[in-house]
Amino acid sequence: MRYKRVENADVLVKESPYYVENPESHKNNWSTVFKNHHPIYIELGMGRGDFIIHMAESYPQINFIGIEMFLSQMVYATQKLEKMHLSNLKLIHLDAKDLASVFGKEVDTIYLTFCDPWPKKQDEKRRFTHENFLRIYDRVFKKDKRIVLKTDNKGFFQYSLESLSQYWYVFERVSLDLHHDEHPIDNIMTDYEQRYFVEGRPIYYLDARFKN
Ligand SMILES: C[S@@+](CC[C@H](N)C(=O)[O-])C[C@H]1O[C@@H](n2cnc3c(N)ncnc32)[C@H](O)[C@@H]1O
Repeated sequence: MRYKRVENADVLVKESPYYVENPESHKNNWSTVFKNHHPIYIELGMGRGDFIIHMAESYPQINFIGIEMFLSQMVYATQKLEKMHLSNLKLIHLDAKDLASVFGKEVDTIYLTFCDPWPKKQDEKRRFTHENFLRIYDRVFKKDKRIVLKTDNKGFFQYSLESLSQYWYVFERVSLDLHHDEHPIDNIMTDYEQRYFVEGRPIYYLDARFKN
């Protein structure tokens, strides 16, 4: 997918107090960064950041880290945060495949929100729920594993259900139409989700766990 390039995005992002420079230097030490031992929830491919920002506002007892590989996307998140004071949120510029260089076993939940579905078979390994990624997540989960996924892409959702079950995850919750489910969950919308919701597209949702 192509995203609009923002002039000086690197400068703008790096001057934000939420941006963490050299995140690798904090591996195994994120509790020091947050100055507490609260659980750590991360979002891979946070894009413009609406979801992680509102999660951090809504759940102050949880530390959130938004991960994004394009600075031109991150810059929107740092702009939204300009007048906010959230001590439980940090942003990292990183390719998700390098997650284990930044975290030891310290993550409690991983959010995969509207990640690129990579529909072509030749791109299967790029999907965030491919077994190779699930192995990377194993290296950063504290103990029990939890992956929460939202997507509008049926094919990617089916693939993820299969891939996670084959990896012995158990589904705490699955919805084929999150916004019209008879048992609503406490949901905060992402930027993409807001657009799809307006268009009336169904959102697929899963909350998968593995207890060690
Ligand atoms: C379709 S957008 C979804 C953004 C946001 N999660 C939302 O729901 O509004 C996917 C985002 O994932 C980012 N992304 C794609 N591959 C990535 C990777 N390997 N590591 C980190 N971010 C990635 C893209 O730059 C983009 O911002």
